[in-house]
This record gives sequence, C-alpha cells and structure tokens, in this order.
Amino acid sequence: MNPNQPHFYRGRFSVAPMLDWTTRHCRYFHRQFSQHALLYTEMVTSQAIIHAKYDHLAFDIAESPVAIQLGGSDPEQLRHCAKLAEERGYVEINLNVGCPSDRVQNGMFGACLMAKADLVADCVTAMQSAVNIPVTVKTRIGIDELDSYEFLCDFVEKVKNTGCHELIVHARKAWLSGLSPKENREIPPLDYERVYQLKRDFPDLLISINGGIKTIEEMKTHLQYVDGVMVGRETYQNPSLLGFIDNALFDENAPIITARQAVEKMLPYIENQLSQGVYLNHITRHMLGAFQNCKGARQWRRYLSENAHKSGAGIEIVETALNFVEK
Ligand SMILES: Cc1cc2nc3c(=O)[nH]c(=O)nc-3n(C[C@H](O)[C@H](O)[C@H](O)COP(=O)(O)O)c2cc1C
Repeated sequence: MNPNQPHFYRGRFSVAPMLDWTTRHCRYFHRQFSQHALLYTEMVTSQAIIHAKYDHLAFDIAESPVAIQLGGSDPEQLRHCAKLAEERGYVEINLNVGCPSDRVQNGMFGACLMAKADLVADCVTAMQSAVNIPVTVKTRIGIDELDSYEFLCDFVEKVKNTGCHELIVHARKAWLSGLSPKENREIPPLDYERVYQLKRDFPDLLISINGGIKTIEEMKTHLQYVDGVMVGRETYQNPSLLGFIDNALFDENAPIITARQAVEKMLPYIENQLSQGVYLNHITRHMLGAFQNCKGARQWRRYLSENAHKSGAGIEIVETALNFVEK
C-alpha cells in the first residue's frame, strides 16, 4: 500500500479467488495493470499443501500484495498452512466459506461451513494464533433454507467473536445440491442491500462485497456502503478494467496501463518461465481477454488459442499475436 495513502483499506479493490483461473501467471499479468489491487490465489486446500506433490504456495513476490485462500475445516491443518503461507510472503489468509461444489462439500469445507459457525470460528482462531497477518473469511449470504438475515448475522457474530474483522460477502446464497458451481454463481439472485445492511449492523467489521460487479461506476456505488469490492469474472474476461483501478479507486494520478503495455511487460516474465519449462499456453490462456473491445481482439485470441499450446511454442507466438491488434 502506498504509504502516502494510509486511509485506504487493503481490500478496497480485490480480484476474486478463482480455481484454475487466478493462477500465479494470471496474477502476474493482472499485476501489470494495477499496483493496488489485492490479488487472491485460487483456493488451495490444506490437504494439498500438507501432502504436497508440488509447491502449492509458490508465487513471485512481484505479484504482491497477494492473499492466499485456503480450503479446509481442520483447525490444526489450517493453522499449519497459514503459518507456512505467512512465511512465504502472502499478506492475508482467507478461509473459503463460499464454494458450493460437491467435491468441496465432501471434504467438509466451502459454503457448507456456513451451517457450522462454531467450527469456522475454531478454524479462524487457530489460524490467527499462528500468524500476524489478517485472517479473513469469504462467505455467501446464506445456504439452502438457511438464508434469513438473522442466520447471516449469527454466523458473522461468531466469526467476529474470534477477533476476525474482515469479511468478503458474495451477495447471493448458494444451493448445496441441485445447482452446479457455475449455476450457483448465476441463478440465486444478488442481494446487495443485505450486504449493506450487514455493514450497518457490524460497523466495526471491514466488509467487501462480491458478485456481478462489472464497471468502475458500480464499484464506486458499492464503496459508498461497504469497505471493499471484489471482482471475479469481469476482471478475468476483461483484464484491461484493472488498468483503471488505481486512479479511480485509490486516487492515483498515473497513466493508465494499456493492454498492449501490460502484454509487453509480460514478455521478460514469459521468457523466464519458458526457460524453466513452463508451457506458453499456461501463461497466455489468462491473457486472451486482454484486448476486449479493441480492433483485432478476435485475431489475438484465435492466434494464441491455436498456437500457444504447440510443442516448443515460444515468445514469438505472443509477439506475432500482438501484431494483430491495433496500436
Ligand atoms: C472459474 C471460477 C472459479 C472460482 N473459484 C473460486 C475459489 O476457488 N474460491 C472462491 O471462494 N470462489 C471461487 N469462485 C467464485 C468467485 O470468487 C466469486 O465469488 C464469484 O465469481 C462471484 O463474483 P463475480 O460475479 O465478480 O465473478 C470462482 C469463480 C469462477 C468463475
């Protein structure tokens, strides 16, 4: 955070955790557009970290500030993982209490934990005991039939009593059966007013709102009622939006980073990653939306999609694709 702007909350704007999307390469790309956005990892389960087949915590410090989202419900395991994450340089530990997928429910974590507020409180307390960085919770406004405002307040009260004072609230409930995770991000209606009410009733908590936010204007409106906005799909599909964040929400007065500039700033990183054996399309698949609304966007997308996965694909693929989009 810019030391000249101490009044800004770290989570004033964040990019949501998205499995398979907000990988380290994606975050590195997003960082080229904004210095202030708080970037979340994909959810990483405590099991995966502990039984590590590979290093799930690896990230490049140039992506900072990055918050790690953990999935799990075993306080001791989460405590251990939180400690490891803090040591690696993450700035926040977030617990996933919002994901409704079957796989996650079988592991007893994600959104189903909304019905187990005491266990969530135990998990948060365990993590807080191990780290000095903030431990936060990302949740929904309800699950299944447990969707009254009173239910949400009881849940929040229990989390708050641990000393946790930051929540991210996806402003729709989740159905734990019957809907796919994708449908659970689209079908239950958004209820922003409920999140605003939560902030009014828990004024000491820092509350970020999430769900369906697409424009800077919408973000500014939400920020009149809550402390932060978290944006997922729109930033992924249209990363240029991130170029406006620092000026619009953090009072910076810096030149807007264009998609072309962001892509060009990626080239040394890509070369470095390729030299370490990373496949080109593992990086460029997160860059396909860069030129949305620009002339040549479709050719950029198509050229990368058709060529970046080929064996031996190198930096020249990106350079050629760049020639398709207007300067
Ligand atoms: C592909 C994808 C993967 C997601 N993975 C996670 C995840 O790992 N953890 C989580 O808390 N939410 C996850 N979400 C939900 C988002 O964080 C966010 O809450 C949701 O997309 C609503 O915000 P949006 O309308 O701005 O996209 C995922 C969403 C998408 C689209």
